Amino acid sequence: MAREGPASGGPERLQKILSQAGVASRRKAEAMILAGRVSVDGQVVTELGTKVDPAMARIAVDGKAIEGPERQVYFLLNKPRGYLSTARDDRGRNTVLDLFPEVRERIYPVGRLDYDTEGLLLLTNDGALMNGLLHPRYEVEKTYVARVRGPVDAGRLDAMRQGLALEDGMTAPARVKRLGNAGCGTHRIEVTIHEGRNRQVRRMFAAIGCEVLALRRVRFAFLDLHDVRTGAYRALTKEEIQRLYAIAGGQQNERNGR
Ligand code: URA
Repeated sequence: MAREGPASGGPERLQKILSQAGVASRRKAEAMILAGRVSVDGQVVTELGTKVDPAMARIAVDGKAIEGPERQVYFLLNKPRGYLSTARDDRGRNTVLDLFPEVRERIYPVGRLDYDTEGLLLLTNDGALMNGLLHPRYEVEKTYVARVRGPVDAGRLDAMRQGLALEDGMTAPARVKRLGNAGCGTHRIEVTIHEGRNRQVRRMFAAIGCEVLALRRVRFAFLDLHDVRTGAYRALTKEEIQRLYAIAGGQQNERNGR
């Protein structure tokens, strides 16, 4: 399947990768490169300026693959329907990780989208950022577009805005916008919530007597699906990662060298 954008934070200088992996200081790593001791995907590299994407390339020193701390990676996926937001499934169903065959890091989804929900899902191996983004304290907004069947009169949409009694308690106020009719008596409704309860949007619609026929997450915080086709992903930019850190109340560490 075609991919969009680089599969990681992008290429970096070989000596930087070696020093971040704890192989040697940057200066010693340069000496190793010049001495012909470093290979990339089986080819010896002696150029000091060589840039390599550490998420994609096999880098070895004296023939031995480097390890070191796992580099932190951040991806925005446009999840298709029919994929689980888990790392693996005992029943052999597709999981979102199947969409990242060339990523070697152990990435996890930031929260979940239902099997039948499509749209924006972040994946990372940065546990601190993931926990911050999921923590209710930071009230990270998520926007969904639902195609629904059933009564969507102003009173019912207002009830959604104000909060609905679900079996796990009242929902927090939501922003709800009617986008229009979607044919055959169905409607497109945009809903923005900051909670992340299980199947929350579907249950909110069920509470006002509507059935959700299709659900798509179109925004997560300030991120949208712009230019990322269904089934494709892109790496987040440095600025996007910094903004997410600012939202999730944390301090970015230096491990990913960003
Ligand atoms: N709400 C739902 O009902 N499903 C999702 O996948 C996400 C939010």
